[in-house]
Amino acid sequence: MASTALSTTVNPSKICNGKNGAMVPTRALKSVKGLGSKPSRSVACQATSGILPEDVPDMEKRKLLNLLLLGALSLPTVTMLGPYTYFFVPPGSGGGNTGIPAKDKLGNDVVVTDWLQTHGPNDRTLVQGLRGDPTYLVVEADKTLATYGVNAVCTHLGCVVPWNPNENKFLCPCHGSQYNNQGRVVRGPAPLSLALVHADVDDGKVILVPWVETDFRTGEDPWWA
Ligand code: FES
Repeated sequence: MASTALSTTVNPSKICNGKNGAMVPTRALKSVKGLGSKPSRSVACQATSGILPEDVPDMEKRKLLNLLLLGALSLPTVTMLGPYTYFFVPPGSGGGNTGIPAKDKLGNDVVVTDWLQTHGPNDRTLVQGLRGDPTYLVVEADKTLATYGVNAVCTHLGCVVPWNPNENKFLCPCHGSQYNNQGRVVRGPAPLSLALVHADVDDGKVILVPWVETDFRTGEDPWWA
């Protein structure tokens, strides 16, 4: 007779033989009504871990494994985060505070002695400055190179401001702003003076360095720094 109940001949060990012995019989031999005089057996199984204590690594080994895993994950993470973080760092001002050599119109480094032989007193001539900005080197009346340079970008809307030796001023052709011979604004609409840079001399060459000190023309903090 077919039945879903387990007969008395069922071997519990066969029914509960899970993988790795994970299922084991816990109860057997329960009568089932209507199945004849012989008692039927049912078998209940419960899960056990099936992992022997000696298979579980002790705490020291687990800590060591965790450290090894952490180290293995940290290295590629740091490697990837480095360039990613660098991407969001704002660019420095053309060589940072260490400065860059001034370049003439041919792209050559400006050598002070050569420059002063071809540029007379009160000369203002453009060179390539920090971040590629056009920058005036200033020759003083005594025919020495000034220790500052003047950024030629107009503070109104960004035109390059020409030097006018007859007026002894920088005159912006775009909207009429005027700056004195040191780049201080004397007529608008430009709201601010032209930016300054240091014009240092190193090994005979002009080195342009960001100007972060007080603006000597106004006595104020530099707006560009
Ligand atoms: S851009 Fe120089 S005055 Fe407007």
